[in-house]
Amino acid sequence: MKIIVVDNYNEMSKKAANIIASCIVLKPNSVLGLATGSTPLGVYKELIKLYENSDVDFSNVCTFNLDEYYGITKDNDQSYSYYMKENFFKHVNLKEENTHIPDGTCKNVDTMCQSYEDIIKQHGGIDVQILGIGQNGHIGFNEPDDKFVADTHLVKLKEDTVNANSRFFETIEDVPKEAVSMGIKAIMKAKKIILIANGINKAEAIYKTIKEDVTPEVPASILQFHSDVTVIVDKEAASKL
Ligand code: GLP
Repeated sequence: MKIIVVDNYNEMSKKAANIIASCIVLKPNSVLGLATGSTPLGVYKELIKLYENSDVDFSNVCTFNLDEYYGITKDNDQSYSYYMKENFFKHVNLKEENTHIPDGTCKNVDTMCQSYEDIIKQHGGIDVQILGIGQNGHIGFNEPDDKFVADTHLVKLKEDTVNANSRFFETIEDVPKEAVSMGIKAIMKAKKIILIANGINKAEAIYKTIKEDVTPEVPASILQFHSDVTVIVDKEAASKL
């Protein structure tokens, strides 16, 4: 793992965006794995700036999001589809048909999960995957467990994740309790992974991910087994390293 400690959130966002942009410059039809949450918002802002300055062109880029809440529609302003459209997709020249997000309303979830993985494969796999991290060490919505779940699947969210995500909702009852998430195998198959984290509330998860044993109790710790991971953290998230 390559660990880069930066001064603040803006620097973290710029560094991650620059790595992604350089991948696209080298391979204009790059396949990006995208994350949601508050952490990557700055990365999307930086990528939009790079696009506006004509430094990067998304016209041949294809994207796959890690996860989506289950049971809310795409146009719900809390869905990850809505988040991606508002915070990134509508600001750059990505073609809509090249953007993929798990369907959070699909009745036959298993079939949808399988076909999501098939489409990633048909595109040649993910070139660069951006990841945030949950306070409990989750990546995507792969929650702490007694085993790693390999495949894209329906997840029952842990209480601490529901609590952490409730800040985006009016009441805790409104927070979906299930989600569809790319599994650990799909994430680990990405050729390159960038994990970003900022703030003191991520320090423990970052420490366990990097310094302790690989365990499904800290899903992000599996990244120690990947050959090309760059962790970009601000001073606070790095404070226990
Ligand atoms: C959600 C997402 C994760 C994200 C995590 C952390 O649970 N499914 O992909 O990494 O939140 O979110 P934040 O960046 O807001 O701390």
